[in-house]
Amino acid sequence: MRDATPQTVYLKDYTPPEYLIDSVELDFDLDAQHTQVNSRLTMRRNPESAAAGVSLVLTGEELELISIQLDGNPLTESDFTINLETMTIQQVPQQRAFVISIENRINPKANTALEGLYLSSSMLCTQCEAQGFRKITWFLDRPDVMTRFKTTLSADKTQYPVLLSNGNKIGHGDLANNRHWVSWEDPFAKPCYLFALVAGQLECVSDSFTTMSGREIALEIFVEQHNVDKCAHAMQSLKNAMRWDEDSYGLEYDLDLYMIVAVDHFNMGAMENKGLNVFNTKFVLARPDTATDSDYEHIEGVIGHEYFHNWSGNRVTCRDWFQLSLKEGFTVFRDQQFTGDRTSQAVKRIQDVNALRTRQFAEDASPLAHPIRPEAYIEINNFYTLTVYEKGAEVVRMLQTLLGAEGFRKGCDLYFQRHDGQAVTCEDFVNAMEAANGVELSQFRRWYSQAGTPVLTVSQHYDADAQQLHLTIQQSCPPTPHQPDKAPLHIPVKLGLLAADGSPATFVINGQQQTDITLNLTEAEQSFVFDELAEKPVLSLLRGFSAPVNLNMPRSLEELAFLFKHDSDTFNRWEAGQQLVVQVIFGLIEDLHNHLPLHLNALVVEAFHSLLNAEADDLSYQALLLTLPDESYLAGQMTVIDVDAIHHAREFVKTTLAHALEDDFNRVYLIHHRDESGKFDADAIGRRRLKNACLSYLSQLESSDSYTLILAQFEQAHNMTDQMAALSVIVNSQHPAKASCLDKFYQQWQQEALVIDKWFALQASSYMPNTFATVQALMQHPAFDMKTPNRVRALIGAFSQANPVHFHAKDGEGYRFLADQVLALNTLNPQIASRMVTSLAQWRRYDKGRQKLMKQQLQRIVMTEQLSKDVYEIASKSLA
Ligand code: ARG
Ligand code: ZN
Repeated sequence: MRDATPQTVYLKDYTPPEYLIDSVELDFDLDAQHTQVNSRLTMRRNPESAAAGVSLVLTGEELELISIQLDGNPLTESDFTINLETMTIQQVPQQRAFVISIENRINPKANTALEGLYLSSSMLCTQCEAQGFRKITWFLDRPDVMTRFKTTLSADKTQYPVLLSNGNKIGHGDLANNRHWVSWEDPFAKPCYLFALVAGQLECVSDSFTTMSGREIALEIFVEQHNVDKCAHAMQSLKNAMRWDEDSYGLEYDLDLYMIVAVDHFNMGAMENKGLNVFNTKFVLARPDTATDSDYEHIEGVIGHEYFHNWSGNRVTCRDWFQLSLKEGFTVFRDQQFTGDRTSQAVKRIQDVNALRTRQFAEDASPLAHPIRPEAYIEINNFYTLTVYEKGAEVVRMLQTLLGAEGFRKGCDLYFQRHDGQAVTCEDFVNAMEAANGVELSQFRRWYSQAGTPVLTVSQHYDADAQQLHLTIQQSCPPTPHQPDKAPLHIPVKLGLLAADGSPATFVINGQQQTDITLNLTEAEQSFVFDELAEKPVLSLLRGFSAPVNLNMPRSLEELAFLFKHDSDTFNRWEAGQQLVVQVIFGLIEDLHNHLPLHLNALVVEAFHSLLNAEADDLSYQALLLTLPDESYLAGQMTVIDVDAIHHAREFVKTTLAHALEDDFNRVYLIHHRDESGKFDADAIGRRRLKNACLSYLSQLESSDSYTLILAQFEQAHNMTDQMAALSVIVNSQHPAKASCLDKFYQQWQQEALVIDKWFALQASSYMPNTFATVQALMQHPAFDMKTPNRVRALIGAFSQANPVHFHAKDGEGYRFLADQVLALNTLNPQIASRMVTSLAQWRRYDKGRQKLMKQQLQRIVMTEQLSKDVYEIASKSLA
């Protein structure tokens, strides 16, 4: 907790560590409330450090010291000082290695912040990234200090029969009083943020994998007994990921054992600790009746993500936390490629861009905007952001676009070869890309230091006499905190042209005949000429979303409808449909503001009609084409966000389409509705997605026929995808069976925490009246628990982030409620508390009345005594 204004840490202040830790031996005497940690650090001065002085500063927080020795000699009070975050030892040997031995005590049960060693249900586990290790014992808790770890765990045999840590098991035995011990050794030097231990009554699901060089790796997933039947998908995903990284990057696993542990209480998704990943249960457990198709895909994606970190993160790690995107942006990019290969590249790309544009673009347009490599932070946990992760992945993707798949792979090979075993920077990554390809990327580097979403303003002119298309693109980037002016970026712009019949148009540029091209945009304004175009083409720009930018390009509804039908680029075909609807919705919002009656443009009905009657092979893609843009995406496109008008206009479009195309929706629904529960191939998943997209339209009719259809699906579903799809439309309608369905669902699933999370989230994000009262009532529900992050996210997170209409209710009750919860969470779990504050950061985007109410709650939060660094940083920056 904070007593003075918290310190800011700056990238420019980085200096190499003054000391190194060559090896550490850790002994844990485990107990839920009194754990004793004995550590033996073999240290020496770092020859690369220029700093003078003979003292040693170790990091440590909330630790109770029992004893400390230097080279076996006890230190006394005058030899060292301890404050809130550090221990300083006055004098240590400068010319030789020395050993620091520390005994300290910690209380895992009291640790509700869930960093360091904590209790989750009945098991003990750790989370050390970014700076949790300092809550275990005093250390040099920084990623550029890499150490070989040997860890011995001892604990009660009955309560903690399974004792795990990183690396290989090297010994075990029994102790007096029903206790036992296990020793682990990790042969790879690693930063302490990759340390982990787990102790508990866990069942092990095991399998094995043979690597490309023929080594056999034992794979083990540890879960509580009642979850053993939900591990098969995670195990298969792990094997898929291991094979994929060999095939796509030539990267092989290094240890003989790979373990994954699923825990109920976890602040984020999962953690790549060396050889011992710790996962939020949400990203491990799945059975057809408990997990949706999307859950299955996310599990495979996150298992892949953590596995890929073994190279992009662990073998090559970050020099300091400002470089976080080095491992996260790169690893997200790798997991996106993996999921695309496993499912559908088209669908995966659309999902990723959709998330990026609705959520990361919002962050970039808020007071919390920062570059993918930030320059300053108060609390590093606040920088595990959409910008560092998702925009970071886009920056890596642009490198691949610029260098080509082969050139990019060469760059990756060189990066891993040069830096294996090192802690490096984003600069090192770009250097490797340059060196491997003989190119120069100095302007491209600005993507690492400039925040904000660039805008491309596009104009075109067709010259019929010259048979030329002239294209002019201007780039600009709005100001962000501390960055009023931006320099032009190097932006790859993929494009293609369509002929009047919808086929690809051939053109000549730079003397070469092509059908598509990647333009290199490097100036504030650039013009391009496309020759030998006998007729006016239709421009398909920014194919595949080749750069994370906003497009400002006037286009007629006819042109968009044309692209929606014909574009061969799957991303841009979807995008044309989205922009068609976006333009129509903004027209309707204007009509609403002018109190005019609403009419839906016939072009939209026609576009959806032909879509519903067209052949399709990728049904998941087809379902996406049918899905209207999210309210939050629409909000991001508005100067002053009007949540009610957005909702009203979007509902109007959906309802009008449902009435106009009722027969089509019914027909397509029936074609694809069949019982194939437990089938998870692309076809079965696609059928469910398409069918459920139709169901969602049909529910708009609020007719007795649609009610019957929906209720039948709810009652007959044997898989969670169909059951949730039905319940979700029921909850968002006036369906007479709403209360009984919700009740039935709860009774059916009360033993499955992850399903009950869905039950909370669904109600919290409902548009129906009285939702706020429901949310307040759910806060008192016996199954609600402020100490379980998944539950908090399901109820408070869903209400504040996925329910614009009710969260932004005019009276400000939503804001007050959120601030109340933030303050309650502030003491329990600062990381979760500060995540919840971010939905107030956008206050400047709303009308004056709401601005004032949101700001009031932010001020109330900032004024609170004992605010955590986490919450202080987000709330104070939001107000700045
Ligand atoms: N490195 C983890 C990942 O795979 C994220 C863990 C960060 N946790 C935290 N509390 N900051 O993305
Ligand atoms: Zn990661």
